[in-house]
Amino acid sequence: MDMGYIDEFAARLGLQFWPERVPRHVAIVMDGNGRWARRQGLERSAGHRRGVEALENIVIGCRKLGVEYLTVYAFSTENWSRPKAEVGTLMNLLSEFADKKLNRLKENHVRVQVIGDFAGLPLLQRMALKHLMEATAVEDKLVLNLALNYGGRADILQAVKKAAALPPARLQTMTEEDFAGLLQTAGQPEPDLLIRTSGELRLSNFLLWQLAYAEFYFTDTLWPDFDEAELFRAICAYQGRSRRFGALSEE
Ligand code: FPP
Repeated sequence: MDMGYIDEFAARLGLQFWPERVPRHVAIVMDGNGRWARRQGLERSAGHRRGVEALENIVIGCRKLGVEYLTVYAFSTENWSRPKAEVGTLMNLLSEFADKKLNRLKENHVRVQVIGDFAGLPLLQRMALKHLMEATAVEDKLVLNLALNYGGRADILQAVKKAAALPPARLQTMTEEDFAGLLQTAGQPEPDLLIRTSGELRLSNFLLWQLAYAEFYFTDTLWPDFDEAELFRAICAYQGRSRRFGALSEE
């Protein structure tokens, strides 16, 4: 946590920030790259490119605000049905991200992990990501989960298949916590805050199990314009929520 950074944003935005109420895990649906590009009279690919820059800034911002886990929806299982050229652009950006951002991520002690059907990604991207994951494996300030070829239902289904292979006695006594340990986010706290940009009010098959008690924050800002100040606002809004997990409030 970088108190100088926090104080500067709090003063600039006129918001109160509670260091003891920082969400441990933030999940983001990075939406609106295409619309951002169109509004600038650019190709959709330019929007995705700017989207990667926005992601880089948000990773750094999360690190400074004391967030421990950041999960971003970078490519869904449904995204394969986009035009071939756009899928190609996203895949190129992905391998470029893995190669070019390694040093910056390491400097910031960010550990990168992939959730999703890794084997279904093209070989080049698998190799670049494998290197990125291995090279950042020792980092311990922020875990960045890249959701790639990810779908929430597929995640639950693969967990069910693992569960089904367990001895009947273990399956019978399985708790929700045990089951969560079979999901791709095993060992991580559940997201406290879900952010979706660009004014869409949907979950789009993201982290279905894990988001059961997350607070939702929606903004009309398009992803390429979502900057550290926007992140700060989202976290302050989260801090003002009363989380009850189905129980009554303490007040
Ligand atoms: C949604 O915008 C965004 C995506 C489908 C991809 C998100 C990807 C990035 C931010 C960059 C890639 C990330 C890495 C790590 C390389 P959209 O295209 O659906 O926008 P639209 O709704 O305005 O069309």
